[in-house]
Amino acid sequence: MSDIQSINNAHFNKTAQDYDSFPQAKELTERAAETIVQEFIASAGPERAKNAIALDFGCGTGLCAFKVAPHVKEIVGVDASEGMTQHLNHKLTTQDENKAIRDSIKTVTHLVTQNEPLPEPERSQYLAGANGGFDLIYSSYVMHHIEDIQGTIDTLAQKLVKKDGWVIIIDFQGPHHHHHHHHEGDGEHEKHGEHSSEGHGHGHGHNHNHGHSHGDISNSLFVDENGNPLDYVAHKQGFTSEGLTEVFKKAGLVDVSARTAFGMSRELFGKKIWADVLVIKGRRA
Ligand SMILES: C[S@@+](CC[C@H](N)C(=O)[O-])C[C@H]1O[C@@H](n2cnc3c(N)ncnc32)[C@H](O)[C@@H]1O
Repeated sequence: MSDIQSINNAHFNKTAQDYDSFPQAKELTERAAETIVQEFIASAGPERAKNAIALDFGCGTGLCAFKVAPHVKEIVGVDASEGMTQHLNHKLTTQDENKAIRDSIKTVTHLVTQNEPLPEPERSQYLAGANGGFDLIYSSYVMHHIEDIQGTIDTLAQKLVKKDGWVIIIDFQGPHHHHHHHHEGDGEHEKHGEHSSEGHGHGHGHNHNHGHSHGDISNSLFVDENGNPLDYVAHKQGFTSEGLTEVFKKAGLVDVSARTAFGMSRELFGKKIWADVLVIKGRRA
């Protein structure tokens, strides 16, 4: 495990029980799930969506999976952190509201790497044969924790998704500029794509912590209560649609498109910040 992945794992094991009560975790993830379902149905059609076997990459405590589950046939949630998958299963088996989806979600505790995308027995069960793989792979708020974005998207696009299946990724969009014009609860707002092409935040290889001082994502979203950068976040700038589009295309995905899905005001350590959320999708040819 690389340094950042083991820091990551320790962090998520430690905070699994509290994850769902982080500021706006539920709201951010519910909007992410809505976006994923909407994009998948628009791309694959309602019939294929209903019968889909999906992989939730970095499923965490299931905030996203529980909302996607009613719209697909089955979800395999994979996560490197045992604390997170344990908490997901605890909620799934003990909470009455999750009764209807109990049998359609299962978890695998596993660090997804290029060499070992899935362990046995799931590897044989889901990936075997020429037409093996998942109909849908989605992921919400996982990529900013991972250093090697290109390697990860390559794995999803070349080893885990089925031919003609879709990869849909949700994560924070950056770099961010002044958003003084945002008002409480204005929900959908205009796209900021034109501000996003400054030549950094391309989402691969290096760490984009440029230490901006004008309230961007690196100074607001990913710092602790003392203003120190969070060590378990690899991409403190978030991602640009241009950067991730390049990564998707390089991985061989086609019909790639990206957009700002929504924005949300968050309160983090007593500070109000604005988070734009990006959705990007692509199809395996
Ligand atoms: C911020 S949480 C998001 C959880 C969930 N997707 C959600 O939206 O609520 C990120 C999760 O990604 C997992 N993760 C990070 N890198 C991973 C990898 N290479 N393989 C599997 N899981 C990974 C972490 O363990 C953590 O649970």
